[in-house]
Amino acid sequence: MARIATIGLLLLATSAGPGRLFAESPAPARGEAALLKRPLLAPAWSVRAYQDAWKHWGIGARPVAADYDAKFAEHYGLATTPFQNHGLPMGMKESSFLGLKGITADCLLCHGGSIAGQSYVGLGNASVDIQALFEDLAAADGRPAKLPFVFGRVRGTTEAGAMAAYLLGWREPDLQMRSSRLDLGVHDDLCLDTPPWWHLKKKKTMYMTGSMDARSVRANMQFMMSPLTPPSRFKAEEGTFADIQAYLLQIQPPRYPFHVDASLARRGESLFLDHCKRCHGTYGAQWTYPNKIVPLEEIGTDSARFLGVTTEHGRYYNRSWFGQEQPGWLIDEYLATATSGYQAPPLDGIWATAPYFHNGSVPTVYQVLNSQARPSRFTRSFKTDEGAYDPVHLGWKVEEVRDQDTARKLAAQRRLYDVAQPGRGNRGHTYGDSLTDAERLAIIEYLKTL
Ligand code: HEC
Ligand code: HEC
Repeated sequence: MARIATIGLLLLATSAGPGRLFAESPAPARGEAALLKRPLLAPAWSVRAYQDAWKHWGIGARPVAADYDAKFAEHYGLATTPFQNHGLPMGMKESSFLGLKGITADCLLCHGGSIAGQSYVGLGNASVDIQALFEDLAAADGRPAKLPFVFGRVRGTTEAGAMAAYLLGWREPDLQMRSSRLDLGVHDDLCLDTPPWWHLKKKKTMYMTGSMDARSVRANMQFMMSPLTPPSRFKAEEGTFADIQAYLLQIQPPRYPFHVDASLARRGESLFLDHCKRCHGTYGAQWTYPNKIVPLEEIGTDSARFLGVTTEHGRYYNRSWFGQEQPGWLIDEYLATATSGYQAPPLDGIWATAPYFHNGSVPTVYQVLNSQARPSRFTRSFKTDEGAYDPVHLGWKVEEVRDQDTARKLAAQRRLYDVAQPGRGNRGHTYGDSLTDAERLAIIEYLKTL
């Protein structure tokens, strides 16, 4: 910690002036450039650690140089980058500190994904093995591989909530580093399935529980709380994050790449209006979105995420720099608020965002609509090409695991989703149970058009 704190002080001394501070109105193109081209964090690992990570893959020899980036991406479930990134997979970025080049992670580690063979900025990464990535890179740099809490328990899910609570615990309300960590309740068994960025434009409140005003810029800066980021950097980058938010608000969902039966989809639309609209809204040019938060007892999905972000965390967040974004007089403050349950998300681009529910416990939309058909212990290839996609049920192809030994082995590699484990329940949301299979398939056909 002492070494990190010294680096933090150096950064403080070298960081540039007060920054843009909203002198200009937010610009999406500037936000896109900042997000895709510029490292937001100081290097976390050496270039050598990236190059040596293969030593932890249980293979005898280094992959040939020309294949290395692709093999790295495949091993950790990262998407190939759809923009110039020095060959690095999406989510990894070159960064330098006092002239010394290194590698850092960014938002796209979780918010950049791939489906049906195509990478998209803003699609949640449903394959990332974030735990192995952080352990292996630390070990390759000669540091202890042990992380202070679990970063991910199942591939494709992360413990982003625990990261936020842990990192905020090291900060004073004005973001100065503390010498000891406050316990704000670090729950690392929530198995969060990263939501897509293209929904943000419809939302009044964001996060799974709708606990945050969707206009908040500072909330999106929580990932900057690495110990290497001095308080001055948050203030200096607030304008950049206003630009990034403007970019996020422009991202469109990817179009369904396969055939759609238009007349079946029309039938599905009227069923959707009868059964789903009251929570999920309407689509097309005149879209409506009710921004509805459904009480936990009514929705019945896993409660761990709802209970796992504590009141102490919310209170401390609200007292901190993050909560002081709009010191309110006439303007509502962008504070973390307790809600009664989970927010019904918009369903634009739903074909691409498998698996489903906040914890990724249900592999396909068909199974969302038929609770009896949900698998309870399963694995998948964690590849994202066309062959891994199920265009009939809309989602990932999975394999049920019945054998105990196989289950144990897969669980150790974070390749097993077991709904009996904490945070991973697949109950609830039974609104499709009374439909016939023909009706479900019609609704699915309609959902392909959103
Ligand atoms: C470790 C993975 C991870 C990283 C890195 C990450 N996020 Fe997220 N993000 C998530 C998860 C998971 C959620 C959902 C959190 C919840 O509600 O529990 C989320 C939620 C969001 C939301 C709200 C979306 C919605 O519709 O509710 C925004 C906006 C967002 N992140 C922006 C960012 C930005 C900008 C960055 C980089 C500065 C970033 N995130 C870095 C995982 C991550
Ligand atoms: C009473 C409100 C309500 C009704 C009615 C409803 N839903 Fe939902 N839906 C929700 C909520 C809340 C969630 C989020 C649950 C969670 O993540 O724990 C959700 C989640 C989903 C998801 C997963 C979204 C994702 O990104 O993971 C799909 C797909 C979905 N609903 C489709 C439908 C369809 C189709 C219908 C009509 C047959 C329907 N829902 C009816 C409230 C509702």
